[in-house]
Amino acid sequence: MKLPLIRLGLYLFGVLGVHLSAYATPDLPSGKKIDQQKCYSCHAKKSGFGNGDMIYTRGDSKVKNLQILKSMVAMCNTELRLDLFPEDEADVAAFLDNQFYKFK
Ligand code: HEC
Repeated sequence: MKLPLIRLGLYLFGVLGVHLSAYATPDLPSGKKIDQQKCYSCHAKKSGFGNGDMIYTRGDSKVKNLQILKSMVAMCNTELRLDLFPEDEADVAAFLDNQFYKFK
C-alpha cells in the first residue's frame, strides 16, 4: 500500500535534484535567449528608450545587488505571467548579471 508514496518521494527527489543542479551552474546562453524572447521588446517599449537592454543600464536602476536583481526578475515573471521555471529565472538573472550588472 505504501509503494505509491515511495514512488512519489523518489519522483520529487529527482525533480528537486535537477532543479538544484540547474541553480549551481546557470546556463547563460539559455538566459540570453529568454531575455531576447520574453523580456527585450517589452522593456524597449516601457522604458521609452526603444532598446530593451537599456532598462538594465539606466542611471536610476532599481537593481543594486544580486538579491534585488533576482527579485526583479521574479517580479516581472510572476506579475506578467511569463511562466518561467525557477531554473529559467536563475539563468536569465545570471545572464543579466554577467552582461549588464556585473555584481560578481
Ligand atoms: C510586459 C512588460 C515586461 C516584460 C515582458 C518584462 N518586464 Fe521587466 N520590467 C518591466 C517594467 C515596466 C520595468 C520597470 C519597473 C520599474 O521601474 O519599477 C521592468 C524592470 C525590470 C528589471 C529592473 C531593471 C533595472 O535595472 O531597474 C529587471 C531586472 C527586469 N525587468 C527583468 C525582466 C526579465 C528577466 C524579464 C523576462 C523574463 C522581464 N523583465 C520581462 C516590464 C516588463
